[in-house]
Amino acid sequence: MSELKKIVGYSAADMAKDGQKLGLGTGSTVFYFLERLAGRIKTEGLTVAGIPTSVQTEEHARRMGIPLLTFDDTQALDLYVDGADEIDAGFNMIKGGGGALLREKMVASASARRVIIVDQSKVVERLGTTFALPVEVIPFGWRFCNLRLEKLGCRPTLRMSGDATYSTNNSNYILDCRFPDGISDPAAMEAEINAIAGVICCGLFIGLADEVLVGGPDGVKRLTKQG
Ligand code: 5RP
Repeated sequence: MSELKKIVGYSAADMAKDGQKLGLGTGSTVFYFLERLAGRIKTEGLTVAGIPTSVQTEEHARRMGIPLLTFDDTQALDLYVDGADEIDAGFNMIKGGGGALLREKMVASASARRVIIVDQSKVVERLGTTFALPVEVIPFGWRFCNLRLEKLGCRPTLRMSGDATYSTNNSNYILDCRFPDGISDPAAMEAEINAIAGVICCGLFIGLADEVLVGGPDGVKRLTKQG
């Protein structure tokens, strides 16, 4: 599977153009995007800089020599490249497997062109069928959020890191929500989850992908949003 992640990561890095401000996603697929981007900076003198969506990506980018930006420098980005945990035919996604959903959603929202890079295992007919939906909540009263999420028909589990509660880069908790039959209306579910007091960010990403690069045995398939 990592070979498929590599081919889509490298293809996305080849889309970056001189002078662009980038959104740098998070995860194992994005790692390859960063690797190839760093290579282009060194060999071609490509001049790009990006806002990282996690401490992990920030550390990788620094080590690889990719110039970084923050939202203090700019609030408008040209190109955002990120992975996904699931994506459907309408380009709705579940993200947040790596815990970076809040910063990812902010950076995706600030970007003119959003390119999602996945191996073919991430493409699903219905969201929520292979992956639990991550929901970032404030630690205060997380059990209240847990209860309200249960009422929406899912089984939430508090994400752990070994024996300790997992903490996001924003010092929040994550409830991973399993939907027994998947999510029939992702946009409506996102709205219902966002309406719960204490929820910081829902891992449903609606309307935040413009192009998808899917890696499979025959290479990279490039899908563009219809309509
Ligand atoms: C991190 C994410 C990632 O994009 C998602 O988990 C995919 O990761 P990977 O490329 O490692 O499969 O949403 O919060």
